[in-house]
Amino acid sequence: MSEKIILTGDRPTGRLHIGHFAGSLRRRVELQNASDYKQMFVFIADAQALTDNMENPEKVRQNVIEVALDYLACGLDPEKVTLFIQSQIPELCELTFYYLDLVTVSRLQRNPTVKTEIAMRGFEQSMPVGFFTYPVSQAADITAFRATTVPVGEDQKPMIEQTCEIVRRFNHIYGETLVEPAIMLPDNAACLRLPGTDGKAKMSKSLGNCIYLSDTADEVWQKIRSMYTDPTHLRVDDPGHLEGNTVFTYLDAFSKAEDFAAYWPEYENLDALKAHYTRGGLGDMKVKKFLNEIMQETLSPIRERRKAWQKDIPAVYDILRRGTQQARAVAAKTLDDVRHAMKINYFDDVELIAEQSKRFSEAD
Ligand code: TRP
Repeated sequence: MSEKIILTGDRPTGRLHIGHFAGSLRRRVELQNASDYKQMFVFIADAQALTDNMENPEKVRQNVIEVALDYLACGLDPEKVTLFIQSQIPELCELTFYYLDLVTVSRLQRNPTVKTEIAMRGFEQSMPVGFFTYPVSQAADITAFRATTVPVGEDQKPMIEQTCEIVRRFNHIYGETLVEPAIMLPDNAACLRLPGTDGKAKMSKSLGNCIYLSDTADEVWQKIRSMYTDPTHLRVDDPGHLEGNTVFTYLDAFSKAEDFAAYWPEYENLDALKAHYTRGGLGDMKVKKFLNEIMQETLSPIRERRKAWQKDIPAVYDILRRGTQQARAVAAKTLDDVRHAMKINYFDDVELIAEQSKRFSEAD
């Protein structure tokens, strides 16, 4: 069996959208079904969400179940994947506390993702320490489960790098204990960072430019219909531009060869469609309708599964509870190893008392 241990998670600050799906969720389901791993963990990072939502506990609480529903809706199977809630694993806090000794303030200040987020949240003058140090807690999330493979979006690259540094430093000082993870990025460039429907660089709830996995068919179509395309493509005959054209970026991320035969046989593939659009003579609305077919095909089974799980919310919490129990046992084992390596395992070390007795009797 493969020795791969896969782990990833999401902050529960909103329902998940197709950016999450293209960037990571779709990959997770493929990984789960490929069965080429020893263990796979997917978790809801509620404690991390609280680092910048400390005043909004209700928001985090509501979104824990939303994210869990999105996971199950996408087809994550609790028989194959351990689904858990971060805050219910206190071992992660203890690991974080020790890892904090291995990281400098200036190193954290250089973390590009943290830098961007500080600016975004206006934390320059009043940064919560918990927020500032969340990359260290993320290192605990990853190492507690000995993850080898972390499928995440590009924005998480600095977090994985920071984790690897902590692992190397820990192992250097205390002996080989922790496992260095590798990031697994989406292989399709369009999926790396899917823009919002307005063409802005990132999908974000506050910009209102997201297509949610839980949107109705009509909501999806309305959003696609009003999507940003090419502002210079005024008349059908005008040549169209692909650069920054959200509809085409989404087609890059979601369309498959079969979609052309099924919904638009006039074109052999995406290249042929792009060629016509660039030449001129192809209206945006036609392309949007095609994208809509593809998105509906992708999203309708997700929507249906979500509806089914919504009818049995206690079962969803049960899945999370059981997953959390399993995950906690794994994290506890790593914490034991960490305490041992750091020589703070006083009561489990059968040699310790004898050793110290000998030392002090020799001193006589
Ligand atoms: N920071 C991640 C995000 O914002 C969520 C996360 C927390 C995570 N801990 C993790 C992802 C560990 C991968 C591994 O999406």
